[in-house]
Amino acid sequence: EPYETLLIERHGAVTLVRINRPQALNALNSQVLADMVAASRAYDADPEQRCMIVTGSEKAFAAGADIKQMEQMGFAQAYAANFFAGWEDFTRTRKPIIAAVAGFALGGGCEVAMMCDFIIAADTAKFGQPEIKLGVAPGMGGSQRLTRAIGKAKAMEMCLTGRMMAAEEAERANLVARVVPADQLIEEALKTAQAIAAMPPLAAIANKEMVNAAFETTLAQGILFERRLFAGLFATEDKAEGMSAFVEKRLGAWKGQ
Ligand code: HXC
Repeated sequence: EPYETLLIERHGAVTLVRINRPQALNALNSQVLADMVAASRAYDADPEQRCMIVTGSEKAFAAGADIKQMEQMGFAQAYAANFFAGWEDFTRTRKPIIAAVAGFALGGGCEVAMMCDFIIAADTAKFGQPEIKLGVAPGMGGSQRLTRAIGKAKAMEMCLTGRMMAAEEAERANLVARVVPADQLIEEALKTAQAIAAMPPLAAIANKEMVNAAFETTLAQGILFERRLFAGLFATEDKAEGMSAFVEKRLGAWKGQ
């Protein structure tokens, strides 16, 4: 901090990250990547911060990878630079991340939104993977995450036509958790983030790990992973506190231990 391409606000235990390249509709160049990875590392390392929101502007969450940066690039350069691979570091964040999407979430923008744990969309949100129109294809996980989120028929149609999907359809298709009026997007995302931030922090990490495991392994292995992590949480002080607090009809006071 400060970051060249991000604006950071702290709302108590919630970190609000705004992608801020208005001149390019928040197109994701290598500086945005570097800043986002650094901001997510800092968030993960800060015990005071319990939930993060990633958002853009009213007009664009992000209109994709930066086409002007990619225009001159050949295979050797893209391959050698391992262009986009840094985003994997962003997905390694252990604590919860919400994407709050208004306006365009296209190409890499849609992909970054899908790298977050879930998406809250403004009614103005438009999602798409229009890379085919540029002679390429998704390069930051879009073909995989979109297909897992909305299924083959819709994902294939979107990738092959490059069309945009509006917020309402995105909710029906399970791409987003919830749609809210555009002027309430940040307020609603903050409310949801504050609710998560009020949870026992180790349990938040464990819940995130478990749900993500569903996309990485078989059902039997995933259930085994869940059961072991569930049992592991019984060793935490917050488990004892959470169950006593329920029985005593009071709020839990979490230690993160
Ligand atoms: C660089 C971009 C950009 C992008 C917009 N801009 N998107 N610059 N990379 N992805 C710039 C424009 O060049 C313009 O700057 C300014 O932002 C405003 O954009 P306009 O086009 O004038 O705005 P508008 O007419 O409202 O149209 C909005 C839009 C359109 C529909 C979102 O900008 C658009 O189609 N953008 C590209 C979307 C896209 O194809 N994304 C996928 C990228 S590929 P100037 O200075 O020129 O006025 C990707 C994955 C790559 O993400 C993986 C493969 C390797």
